[in-house]
Amino acid sequence: MLKNANDSIAKLQIGNKSILFITGNFHKFEEVRSILNPIGIAVGMLRMKGKEVQSDHTKEIAENSAIEAFNRCHLPLIVEDAGLFIYALEGFPGPYSAYVYKTIQNRGILKLMKDTQNRKATFHSTIAYYNQKTGPLLFEGEVEGELTLTERKGDGNSGFGFDPIFQPAQSEKTFAEMTQKEKNKLSHRAKAVNKFAEWYKKQVQ
Ligand code: IMP
Repeated sequence: MLKNANDSIAKLQIGNKSILFITGNFHKFEEVRSILNPIGIAVGMLRMKGKEVQSDHTKEIAENSAIEAFNRCHLPLIVEDAGLFIYALEGFPGPYSAYVYKTIQNRGILKLMKDTQNRKATFHSTIAYYNQKTGPLLFEGEVEGELTLTERKGDGNSGFGFDPIFQPAQSEKTFAEMTQKEKNKLSHRAKAVNKFAEWYKKQVQ
């Protein structure tokens, strides 16, 4: 059982079926690790704060972050950029999700959505992989859902970020009310990671 990210990186050997995930978000790391580990891909977490480009597209942000991270650590790696796109707000906060979450948080989003009937939203994730041979490769995932009227955490994993206010279309629960396993069956990130894993497994036997 892993106690923290350092345990994981200490055990990591960069070689066949090992990958570094550059992120400062331990929740994201756990979600990704719990998908890749059981299929034989070891994942280490490396916190490395680089410059994040401003862009309207998570794809461009993820790609640039991967290039920047590779130029600093020279190891095969993945980075991820995610965003919540709210239909009634013309896609806001989208690529600005991190800033919006940091400033107005879920309460602020629900306030913006007060009296709004159309509560549809999409979570989008881009995983960018980089190694010297391939250059940047992008894998994307999306999940459609609705914003709830109130924050709902339940006694699930309680999630992170916008999890308490996002209910995927195929579920009665918000992401925060789900176990990690349940979230991984539906989430934008899991879809992107599974696409990456499918490709990656074919590269390293
Ligand atoms: P970033 O990919 O770390 O830039 O994420 C942008 C923002 O979206 C952050 O505030 C995250 O907390 C939030 N976020 C990203 N992925 C998820 C998720 O799976 N659930 C809930 N919030 C998320």
